[in-house]
Amino acid sequence: MPKEEKPKEKTKKTKPSDSEEKPKKTPSKKKKEKSEEMKLSDLPGVGPAAIEKLEAAGIFDLMGVAVLGPKELGETAGLGEAVARKAIQAARSMMDLGFQDGLEFAEKREEIFYITTGSKEFDTLLGGRGIETKAITEAFGSFGSGKTQLGLSLAVNAQLPIENGGAEGKSVYIDTEGTFRPDRVKQIAEAKGANPENVLKNILVARAFNSDHQILLIDKVGELIKNGEPIRVVIIDSLTAHFRAEFSGRGQLADRQQKLNKYLHNLMKMAEQFNLAVYVTNQVMANPAMMFGDPTTAIGGHIVGHASTFRIYIRRGKKGSRVAKLIDSPNLPDNECVFYVTDKGVCDDE
Ligand SMILES: Nc1ncnc2c1ncn2[C@@H]1O[C@H](COP(=O)(O)OP(=O)(O)O)[C@@H](O)[C@H]1O
Ligand SMILES: [Mg+2]
Repeated sequence: MPKEEKPKEKTKKTKPSDSEEKPKKTPSKKKKEKSEEMKLSDLPGVGPAAIEKLEAAGIFDLMGVAVLGPKELGETAGLGEAVARKAIQAARSMMDLGFQDGLEFAEKREEIFYITTGSKEFDTLLGGRGIETKAITEAFGSFGSGKTQLGLSLAVNAQLPIENGGAEGKSVYIDTEGTFRPDRVKQIAEAKGANPENVLKNILVARAFNSDHQILLIDKVGELIKNGEPIRVVIIDSLTAHFRAEFSGRGQLADRQQKLNKYLHNLMKMAEQFNLAVYVTNQVMANPAMMFGDPTTAIGGHIVGHASTFRIYIRRGKKGSRVAKLIDSPNLPDNECVFYVTDKGVCDDE
C-alpha cells in the first residue's frame, strides 16, 4: 500500500512550488480530449472503404492521418491526392497540432518513469535510463536470444527504488508461452538485494491461452490500476505467438495484421493513459533464404515497428554475450551494445 503513494511523492518533489502553472495546463488538455472524440469518419472525403484500409494499415485516429503526407495517405486509403490533402488539412486543424510551451512539454516528460534493464550499456542504448513509461518497447530476436530474460529482469527492476533504476511500482506479466519462471524471478530479485517473496508477490502474472484472451487481459490491467494497483510495467511475452499460430494461412495475413494493429494501438493508449511501460517480445524465425547478416524481419513487420516507440533486435554475441541493436528510434541513433544474461538477470558482465 505505501508503495502506491511513492510515485505521486516523486511528482510533487520534482515540481515544488509551481502550482500557478496548473491553470495553463487545463485548456490544452480540454482541446486534446475534444480532438480524441473526432473520428476518421469526420474527415471530408474519407468513407467506410477508406477507413477500412486505414485501419488495416494501423491508422485508427486523426493523429495517424495528420502526420502523413498526401501521397502516403492517398496510397494507403485508396484516395486521390487532392482528397487526401484536404483530409490531412482537416485532421491537422481538428487536432490543434500546434505548439505547446516548453514548460508544458517538460512537465509531461517529468511524469515519465524509467526502468533499468540491469545493464548500463543497454540503458545507454535506450537513451540512458532503460525502458520508459508511455512507450512500447519491443524486443525481437530468435529463440534463446534473451527476450524473456529481459522481461523477467524488467518485472523485478520496475519494483526497485527510483534511485536504483526502478519505478517503485508493480509489474504485470502476460505469459503466452508458459515461460514465466517464479524461481528465476526470485534469483534475480535476490541478486538485486530485494526480498524474493515480496518481489514475486508484486508481479501479477496471467497466462493468456489465445489471442482473444490476450487482448481481454489488457482490460483487466485497466481494472487493476483503477483498483489502486501501482502498475508501472506490462510485459507481454510473447506479443505475437498466438496471433501467428491462429492466423497461419496465407489468406489470413491481413486479418492477423488488423487484429495485431488494433491490439498495439490499445496497448499504446494504455501506456499513455496510465503512465506505464509496455515491454513486448516478438520471436523471429531464421530465414533460410537469407545467406548474409541477420534475419531481422519480425512477425507483424512494419506495423509492429510503427507502434513501438523502441524496437530492439537481440541476438547472441561472442563468448556468451548478447548484442542489442536499436532500430528506427524516433529520437535516438541506431546503435548496438553488448550485454550479458547471468544469474543476476540482464547485466553488464558475466
Ligand atoms: N540463470 C541463468 N543464468 C545464466 N543464463 C541464463 C539463466 N537463465 C537463462 N539464461 C540464458 O538465457 C537463455 C534463454 O533466453 P530467453 O530469454 O528464454 O530467450 P527468448 O529470447 O527465446 O525468450 C538461455 O539459453 C541462457 O543462455
Ligand atoms: Mg521467450
